[in-house]
Amino acid sequence: MNLLETMENRTSVRTYSEELPEGELLGRIQRILSKDRKGPFGNRYSMTLMDMDDEKNLELGKMTSYGMIKGARFYFGGFADGDDRAIIDYGYCFEEVVLELTAEGLGTCWMGGTFSRGFMAKMLSLPEGKVIPGISPFGFPVDKRRPTEKLTRFLAGSKKRKAHNKLFFNQGGGDQLEPVITDELRSPVDEIFEAVRFAPSASNKQPWRIIIQDEYYHFYIDYNKTYNGMMKGFNIQALDGGIALCHFTKAAEELRFKGKLSYADPKFENIKWSYLLSWKVSR
Ligand SMILES: Cc1cc2nc3c(=O)[nH]c(=O)nc-3n(C[C@H](O)[C@H](O)[C@H](O)COP(=O)(O)O)c2cc1C
Repeated sequence: MNLLETMENRTSVRTYSEELPEGELLGRIQRILSKDRKGPFGNRYSMTLMDMDDEKNLELGKMTSYGMIKGARFYFGGFADGDDRAIIDYGYCFEEVVLELTAEGLGTCWMGGTFSRGFMAKMLSLPEGKVIPGISPFGFPVDKRRPTEKLTRFLAGSKKRKAHNKLFFNQGGGDQLEPVITDELRSPVDEIFEAVRFAPSASNKQPWRIIIQDEYYHFYIDYNKTYNGMMKGFNIQALDGGIALCHFTKAAEELRFKGKLSYADPKFENIKWSYLLSWKVSR
């Protein structure tokens, strides 16, 4: 499975097998989690492995996912400052971990909302002033999805993704935004866009937008203020921004679409979305 296939095949797994990863695989998992990673704004993260059956963790209480996750013994997660840049970087680094675990045949599920924050704060020895933007269970997926899991996926519209022309736009000279029409995959860029489109997002809201302007791909988030405001301490949709940047960057690397991320806000007057960063193609 190459990276693009990994991105396409990843889905949120909420029901886990009793079979546990062991031996060399466990060693590789530990290396994936403990790797020191850097996000596009320079914040660094590594992930903590949490074993819910470990005796000293049992003393801290019980993990609850409000019925979302079943059968998971292992989780991973970390903490960050609450500002947007730190959260975008957390989203980027966490998604790298998700993709690497997926490539190992493991299931994961991004969780920003449905977990007990008090318990997780104890598990991760959360320092004062930091937030836990997201955690994930991991393990082998069971073949069949439970009925509640099917319902969760249905409610989140998990299988569905917005069409290209709702996400990707040309800044056609003036202020007019022209949707990028890609009915058929024609170029590496279309494949990269597919990789972004397949990315997970909180409640599958897919708030990422990209505007193409000459050699720039400008990234934005179309924040949903009501939804985003439900989470105290940080913008949950900033995670989605980091995840999209991760998918774009990795897919571009894979397809040798050379360029790099930098801050190059074009300050378009008619755009209400929040600017993140831009990918500048190297010629
Ligand atoms: C930042 C973020 C937070 C999420 N929080 C939760 C959560 O709290 N509980 C949950 O069951 N799923 C959560 N999800 C999973 C999304 O619902 C899921 O990614 C989306 O519906 C798309 O489905 P897919 O991951 O199977 O492609 C979250 C995803 C992201 C990216």
